[in-house]
Amino acid sequence: MQTTSKTVAVLGNGMVGVTIAKGFASLGYQVIFGTRNPDSDKSREALAAVPAARASSYDYAARAADLVFVALPWAGLQEGLELAGPANLAGKTVIDAVNPLLDFETGSPRLAVGFSDSAGELVQRLLPQARVVKALNSITVGHMIQPKLPDGQPDMFIAGNDKEAKQEVAAILKGFGWRSAIDMGDITASRLLEPLAMLWISYAIQRQHWTHGFSLLGQATAQPA
Ligand SMILES: NC(=O)c1ccc[n+]([C@@H]2O[C@H](COP(=O)([O-])OP(=O)(O)OC[C@H]3O[C@@H](n4cnc5c(N)ncnc54)[C@H](OP(=O)(O)O)[C@@H]3O)[C@@H](O)[C@H]2O)c1
Repeated sequence: MQTTSKTVAVLGNGMVGVTIAKGFASLGYQVIFGTRNPDSDKSREALAAVPAARASSYDYAARAADLVFVALPWAGLQEGLELAGPANLAGKTVIDAVNPLLDFETGSPRLAVGFSDSAGELVQRLLPQARVVKALNSITVGHMIQPKLPDGQPDMFIAGNDKEAKQEVAAILKGFGWRSAIDMGDITASRLLEPLAMLWISYAIQRQHWTHGFSLLGQATAQPA
């Protein structure tokens, strides 16, 4: 993949934010973390892990960005996106990896929404003018970038309302080492992609095994309408 002069704002500097920031830096993106406190120990750790990155408020990072990656916890999602400012994200591609998980710490996680709503749709509602693409939620953080599984390269399921944004994300996923991005349709397909993460998590917890991923055999050449 060609390198780029684009800036990506990574909202959240936890495990996912840092991993994704490294991935974008490897593709030549300028990385800016959005955080509630750029001077916190956690921010300093994130910057030490991704030396080329900067850290700022959510609002500044969102304004500076060409592209945005949401790596916020479910509990902080609405607050983080409101701080980022929906107007700052108008027209921009926003990759959403959030799983709406409750009770993860108890070892029996469950989805907070499903059937009639999803985190992906909430992100799109909170950012009505952004081009939200659900992606990278159905894999563990350790395999988001250059996933190396013993029996091949996995595929990543994605969803979103904007075809161009999905093409942009599919190219990024290629750069991150995924075999293909499988477009499942508009953002309401997050209702399928988020339970898929639960399937991943349940398999992991039952077997105490953290190195699996999904791939789809016999893929169609046709894309969703
Ligand atoms: N971990 C995985 O393997 C994995 C895999 C797929 C998807 N995901 C999804 O990716 C997202 C991020 O996961 P993570 O493991 O990186 O999360 P995390 O370690 O908890 O970090 C999230 C970051 O969000 C920021 N934040 C903003 N508002 C917050 C609030 N109210 N409470 C707590 N933190 C807040 C914090 O940064 P500041 O305090 O600096 O603002 C924090 O560093 C989650 O939605 C998760 O479901 C995770």
